[in-house]
Amino acid sequence: MAQRVLITGHRGYIGSVMASRFIEAGHQVVGLDTGYFDGCTLVADPIPVLHLEKDIRDGRPHDLEGFDAVVHLAALSNDPIGNLNDSWTESINLEGSARLALMARTAGVQRFLFSSSCIMYGGSGEAAEVNEDSPLDPKTTYARSKVLAEQAISGLATPDFSPVFLRNGTVYGLSPRMRFDTVLNSLAGAAVTAGKVTVYSDGAPWRPVVHIEDVASVFLAVLEAPRERIHNQALNAAAATVNHQIRDLARITAAQVPGCQVEFLSQPDADQRTYKTNFDRIRHLLPEFRLRWSVEEGVSQLISQFRRISLTSEQFHSPQFTRLKWLRHLIDTNRLNSTLRWQSAERTLEEVAAR
Ligand SMILES: NC(=O)c1ccc[n+]([C@@H]2O[C@H](COP(=O)([O-])OP(=O)(O)OC[C@H]3O[C@@H](n4cnc5c(N)ncnc54)[C@H](O)[C@@H]3O)[C@@H](O)[C@H]2O)c1
Repeated sequence: MAQRVLITGHRGYIGSVMASRFIEAGHQVVGLDTGYFDGCTLVADPIPVLHLEKDIRDGRPHDLEGFDAVVHLAALSNDPIGNLNDSWTESINLEGSARLALMARTAGVQRFLFSSSCIMYGGSGEAAEVNEDSPLDPKTTYARSKVLAEQAISGLATPDFSPVFLRNGTVYGLSPRMRFDTVLNSLAGAAVTAGKVTVYSDGAPWRPVVHIEDVASVFLAVLEAPRERIHNQALNAAAATVNHQIRDLARITAAQVPGCQVEFLSQPDADQRTYKTNFDRIRHLLPEFRLRWSVEEGVSQLISQFRRISLTSEQFHSPQFTRLKWLRHLIDTNRLNSTLRWQSAERTLEEVAAR
């Protein structure tokens, strides 16, 4: 049955793909986004989305009225590179999320899908297999914000309000609001624009990598699943085929581009977090759900798409497609204030036109 769904962060990397997918599936979608990346479009949006231009921290209860479900993607998504400012991550990812969930419950929204992350498992040393009951070991402010937001929102569950926590792997694939600061997008972009991929470690760490269309499909499956299956569950959101070592991702990517070199630069401060994610719970709860993309097919598709749009080195290295660099640019040019809200009337004509 068609549902009325509010998607926060619908103008970001995942949201730009997910909103169209939900509309195509017959749902009525309204977006809510403050538009940090509105001037950062690599390819056109497939379908225009009705939306509220708003910071989630400034949302009002009536913004949530009339929706069956909220899909909450809006966040500062800046792990593992470092933090611009810990307090912004806490105020948006934790306090903003908990407040939004409470307003949703009060407004009678029945389902709240929270976009969480497998990064909360941390992981070091030998790659252990982690399931949803494994101890959490968040190593950054971002990862901690996801853990604490899950806990706060879980505490709001009632028979009429079902939060669900979808713990995503690292996402890859083409999106209108592209990101080149995630591992596979970065490797594929480098392969196409430079003919060389560089891994800044020995490449041994394991990561789950999930195609952006499969992420949209998992969220859609959870939106449409019977309540008793998903109520207040944390779910590692993919399937076992998504676990890969970084060096294999580099080799799979390089193999798609004739002559492409793979370089390993083992740096002492390299990101050594490593874990293999177990996906038994989602397989058990949503047995009919299947991922569409293997990493080989997904990377092949991505490389073809980059060639089709003639991706340039300038685009690949542009701050527009690296979250922290773009936010830093908006702050340094006084477009965002000290609370990471827009200075009034500081949106440029270019950004408004890009909407
Ligand atoms: N991309 C990944 O690999 C990945 C992996 C695991 C989890 N996630 C989670 O999925 C969600 C979406 O990720 P993404 O890659 O699309 O991120 P993104 O940075 O591309 O998009 C986030 C969107 O949220 C909006 N936003 C941020 N703060 C806001 C605020 N205060 N009010 C209103 N809008 C705000 C931004 O304008 C942006 O459009 C995030 O919660 C992220 O933590 C992403």
